[in-house]
Amino acid sequence: MRLGILLSGRGSNFLAIAEAIRAGRLKGVEISVVVSNVADAAGLKAARELGLPHEILVSKGRKRAEHDADVIACLKAHTVDLVCLAGYMRLLSAEFVAAFPNRILNIHPSLLPAFPGLEAQEQAFAYGVKVAGCTVHFVDEDLDHGVIVVQRAITVLESDDAHSLAERILAEEHIAYSEAIGMVASGDYEIRGRRFMKKGAA
Ligand code: GAR
Repeated sequence: MRLGILLSGRGSNFLAIAEAIRAGRLKGVEISVVVSNVADAAGLKAARELGLPHEILVSKGRKRAEHDADVIACLKAHTVDLVCLAGYMRLLSAEFVAAFPNRILNIHPSLLPAFPGLEAQEQAFAYGVKVAGCTVHFVDEDLDHGVIVVQRAITVLESDDAHSLAERILAEEHIAYSEAIGMVASGDYEIRGRRFMKKGAA
């Protein structure tokens, strides 16, 4: 399974996926290309240092449809099977979603459907939740909405602030994303309604 990683910033989720592949925890999975929509994204530099194919397709100032068409063309040129949004801070057009039906994963730093959108960890902390976490889900046309593949939860500690909570959620993200990619790559699943389940499960 050939992954196309889309990112906009730090790239720690991308690096966790790359490390899972290097360590042999994602058999049959490889990274075909890393695409950044931000020229100076740290994740892009990391891709370069790892010797992975990487592309910069700057989105700023461009129409969504035009930019997305370029990203789709790039992913197709690299024969990507599964698109992984890893801190890609941009909404995808309906055309993009249609180009990779149930073939785009996103990671979001909350237990969806709670706290979609930006700064989810801060939203959760300010709301006073006792349990927080992250979600890996398929991308559909709606924001942070598609079928859930993996969630990991943590208890919010009395000693937490928004920063420490975000850090602890990030550690879970790094586990959850590879887990979800492994499940999708295995092909041993079916989607019933909104439920992602092992194939043939009762
Ligand atoms: C991660 O916390 C990810 O869940 C979040 O951006 C961060 C990217 O970090 N994504 C979203 O909020 C998407 N709605 P990274 O660049 O170090 O992987």
